[in-house]
Amino acid sequence: MMYFAGVIFLVAIVFPQNNAFEIENRIVGGNTASIENSNYQVSIRENGQHTCGGAILDANTILTAAHCTEGVKAAILSVSNGATIANNGIIHKVSKIIQHPNYNGKTTENDICLLKITPPIIFTNKSRPIKCATKRLEPGTNVKMTGWGKMSENDKETDLGKKSLRYVIVQVINQTVCSDQYKNLGLEIGSKRMCASALGKDSCQGDSGGPLVTGTGADRRVVGVCSVGYGCANKKYAGVYTFVPAFFDDFIKKYL
Ligand code: ARG
Repeated sequence: MMYFAGVIFLVAIVFPQNNAFEIENRIVGGNTASIENSNYQVSIRENGQHTCGGAILDANTILTAAHCTEGVKAAILSVSNGATIANNGIIHKVSKIIQHPNYNGKTTENDICLLKITPPIIFTNKSRPIKCATKRLEPGTNVKMTGWGKMSENDKETDLGKKSLRYVIVQVINQTVCSDQYKNLGLEIGSKRMCASALGKDSCQGDSGGPLVTGTGADRRVVGVCSVGYGCANKKYAGVYTFVPAFFDDFIKKYL
């Protein structure tokens, strides 16, 4: 009994955060988020099952990734909003899928898509639109990623939407550094993508389509759409995001 108490005491000193063990085990390295703090976040669903993230641009327009909706019919898609646990949200039908006309499934270039939904979202403290960023951020800038995706590369969870939304703060990576990371894999980074990473922290499968956000309060802006990555939180490979400012004038704006 004494020995047991001693171990507990030691553990408490080494890991001062109350949920340190949980965080330690998770490659994504995030923490639970409440929908009120990320109320632009939605869950994209295929036959009622969470598949991807998305962001509210206006009452009937959702921003997501093209690879999330490629080959999928609007009839089986829906959008859930306003809940920390995605499966408990308000469900909207998808009336139109607007894939980027130049989305390339092989290279994953132009991985961006808009969804028109019905009925329109009624804004509350749990559902609000987010504006799009207009310029590139300096390397090192903190950005926030949220999602219901896997908590580790080997996460076997099948119903991701029954869990709480999570967030992680990562840093913008220099474009050349990121493009060098992915050169050997044949993934071109270029000016229409951005990369972000932090040690042990990343987005992962199931987070795709979800928003990478800069700023807080009235200044918050979606700057990236979660797109691809080699594994999750791999030290040698950053998370790759579609760079929203590169698509605003020619694509997004047309459909708002
Ligand atoms: N493509 C993944 C998805 O469909 C997201 C990958 C993000 N990976 C990363 N290492 N950041 O959910």
